[in-house]
Amino acid sequence: MSETKEGLDLLAAETLRSRYLREGEEDWKDVCERVAKAVATTTEEYTEFFNLMNSKVFLPSSPTLMNAGTASGQLSACFVIPVEDSIEEIFDSVKTAALIQKTGGGTGFNFSKIRPDGSPSASGTGTASGPVALMGLFNQATEIVKQFGRRRGANMGILDISHNDIIPFIRAKRTEGILSNFNISVMIPDAFMSLADEGRMNEIWNSKTGAKVGEIFSEVVDGIWKNGEPGVLFYNRINRDNFTPSLGDIHATNPCGEEPLLPFESCNLGSINLSLFVEDGKINWDSLRETVGKAVRFLDNEIDVNVYPVPKIGEATRKTRKIGLGVMGFHDMLLKLGLPYNSTEALKLAEKLMGQINWAAVRESRKLAAEKGSFPEHENSIWKLPMRNATLTAIAPTGTISILAGCSAGIEPVFSWVYRRTRTVEKEFMLVHPLFEAHFKPKLSESDYSWLLEHVYTHGTLKDIKNSKVVSGEEKRLFRSALDISWKTHIDIQAAFQRHCHAGISKTINMPANTKKEDIEKALIYAWKQGLKGLTIYRTGSRQHVVLSLKKSQ
Ligand code: CDP
Repeated sequence: MSETKEGLDLLAAETLRSRYLREGEEDWKDVCERVAKAVATTTEEYTEFFNLMNSKVFLPSSPTLMNAGTASGQLSACFVIPVEDSIEEIFDSVKTAALIQKTGGGTGFNFSKIRPDGSPSASGTGTASGPVALMGLFNQATEIVKQFGRRRGANMGILDISHNDIIPFIRAKRTEGILSNFNISVMIPDAFMSLADEGRMNEIWNSKTGAKVGEIFSEVVDGIWKNGEPGVLFYNRINRDNFTPSLGDIHATNPCGEEPLLPFESCNLGSINLSLFVEDGKINWDSLRETVGKAVRFLDNEIDVNVYPVPKIGEATRKTRKIGLGVMGFHDMLLKLGLPYNSTEALKLAEKLMGQINWAAVRESRKLAAEKGSFPEHENSIWKLPMRNATLTAIAPTGTISILAGCSAGIEPVFSWVYRRTRTVEKEFMLVHPLFEAHFKPKLSESDYSWLLEHVYTHGTLKDIKNSKVVSGEEKRLFRSALDISWKTHIDIQAAFQRHCHAGISKTINMPANTKKEDIEKALIYAWKQGLKGLTIYRTGSRQHVVLSLKKSQ
């Protein structure tokens, strides 16, 4: 009954074939050779980089795997493009976004400079159409470019909570299928969150529209409850970690939120597969720190070989040399260590892991600065000692590269131990998490194991299983998946990683279908107080189209 091996292998092979293999390439090794050759500057580096990728200990993000050593040569996953309030500049931004998306990069925009819907146009002869209508234009451009690229383009549309059009913006995606190439997020300052926290819901927030704090806040909460959007970004928290404040404030992030960037900056991402650092039930810290060093070198080299979509992006990126080193396979690592995701030990480990990774990354960046020089804006930054890169760490979703690596995505808990995946490959498989299978299959009779799979496939959890011969209490605690974990734990884990991460973190805070709106309010305030830079909440069942799901009859 279990199709784990066949299903997962097919998924990885299909992903490799459809996304990463270029002409003349046959397997993963060929991809690693091409990428290592493009990124390395010495033969020693070539061997190091090849081994990192071939062993799946470290993988750069999709654009690097797809484009390194090819005619495109565009390696970055994240971009932020400013949008100014004139026809010329708007269409310039659309063009830049199209050029980026053609190469598999994602674009983030803050639309707050666009005058509200219905205000007089610059020429005085008509009325402006406002940020929401404009997003339709960018969305359409993505739709067209999609046909040329290897992956669907992604956009992040951001609006400041003070903008007059904030309510229509929050509602813009309420009908599923509209603006489908956009994630939307509201940018919220501390002043607003403080009022919401203090319950001062009747205070007028926007004197022009008369909108009160409570009205806007409950629109955000309603949207999240209905279908998971808008996401939320915390402006002051993001800008407390602006390492080059003299270059301006940060107003936007890339599509999945892990990289707050200045206008025209781009960033290369790469992720270390944590699960491979568990040896005999212990973490090999030396090996992890050493891998971080090599990964930093890899991502830093990319900045110099990257082919930038437009010159302005190359200039902005080279000034600060930001890179985004992150992790995947965190939940797999916990399983191998026998630690439940929602345990104090997991929380402590999250903190220690990211602390060590960040420290080792900074150490390597200093070494690189001694060898090759600090980033050009170093003197205008808050760094005192030499640094090659203004920021080093960010945790990406690793949506596709974690499939290649065969590990759990980013720092997310496993969605369900038995699940269905749609849209990635034509044939739909019931998939079983390999560590779940390795644990239960050998110890249970064939019929008990089949029963267990069916149960988890239908209900998505082990916690209601009464038969302790099939699943013990301890096993129920260890094998908790996304929906068995409270929103508070999801946020605590994200906060633990965030405390040691220069940029941001992409993570979904899962909530059960019967979640009340008050819980969403509480979660937003709690997340802000815990120092998250932003968050995405998803309530089970609130969207029709999802990639991962339980058995179809559900
Ligand atoms: O796993 P992979 O390297 O393919 O990507 P990811 O970690 O899931 O996403 C990293 C970043 O790539 C996102 O935050 C986006 O900026 C960008 N991205 C995109 O532009 N288009 C997509 N369809 C997916 C991701």
